[in-house]
Amino acid sequence: MSDILQVKNLTYKYATGTPFEKTAVDNISFTVRQGEFVSIIGHTGSGKSTLVQMLNGLIKPTSGKVFFNQNDIWKEPKKIRNIRFKVGMVFQYPEYQLFEETVAKDIAFGAKNMGLTESEIQNRVESSVEFVGLEKSFLKKSPFELSGGEKRRVAIAGVIAMNPEILILDEPTAGLDPMGRELLLSQIRQYHEKQKNTILFVSHSMEDVARISDRVLVMNSGHTEYFDTPENVFAQGEHLKNMGLKIPQITQIMNTLSDKGYHVGKGVLTIEKAVEELLTILKK
Ligand SMILES: Nc1ncnc2c1ncn2[C@@H]1O[C@H](COP(=O)(O)OP(=O)(O)OP(=O)(O)O)[C@@H](O)[C@H]1O
Ligand SMILES: [Mg+2]
Repeated sequence: MSDILQVKNLTYKYATGTPFEKTAVDNISFTVRQGEFVSIIGHTGSGKSTLVQMLNGLIKPTSGKVFFNQNDIWKEPKKIRNIRFKVGMVFQYPEYQLFEETVAKDIAFGAKNMGLTESEIQNRVESSVEFVGLEKSFLKKSPFELSGGEKRRVAIAGVIAMNPEILILDEPTAGLDPMGRELLLSQIRQYHEKQKNTILFVSHSMEDVARISDRVLVMNSGHTEYFDTPENVFAQGEHLKNMGLKIPQITQIMNTLSDKGYHVGKGVLTIEKAVEELLTILKK
């Protein structure tokens, strides 16, 4: 698979040159392959949102470079808007950014800015409401009539309608109830499977991350601590705990058994795999 995104020595400082200067992202480098599902985890304030906002050109790095399909995204600053169509970003709590009088208009907003034809926009609006699991009847409603979860879905649909090559979701399930979270997560997974596009998923839920990701990027005080498969990352139980991260419960149990000398693997992510490993040692 080819590389779609390359990040080289990326640094971001807030309030440079003032007494409040803060290095939020500190010399980070990594590469994402086309079609990968990458999760980004880390304690509050570790720099996740700052990092992803640099990936679609919303904020400009203090130093370092971002390459999208081998091209430096800041090579022609006047064209930075085009990157925002290709690297679509759903913000933390995006429901606060709905402002049009109907759901249909809100979803169409980004696609309209791309200069597509009316019928193409219509098609995209319809397919993206479907992806996020809303009935077509919602299109005529005002965004302000919707529940929190429904608003969130509308905001996500608006970014999907731009058909981005990379979709960045910053804590898309935060604040939803368990059922709403589960549903949205499975819709994101289905979207990924169908579109085969690249997804960057910022999350606090280790259970979600363990199940859904090809690779996990762990941030700690602006640095990358790990960038590896979920199995390898969650095998580092103690170290993650020290960074204020909780590993999935089942992984915790298996890591503890392994530390106590039982021959089970570390970084077990699912109950099924745990049962399999436990049956093997019981049979011996
Ligand atoms: N606009 C800003 N001005 C000054 N400092 C900021 C600003 N935005 C973020 N920061 C600081 O930069 C650091 C990284 O913040 P960021 O929002 O990227 O973290 P995060 O990992 O997304 O956190 P969370 O999990 O709470 O969303 C934090 O110390 C934060 O206080
Ligand atoms: Mg954040």
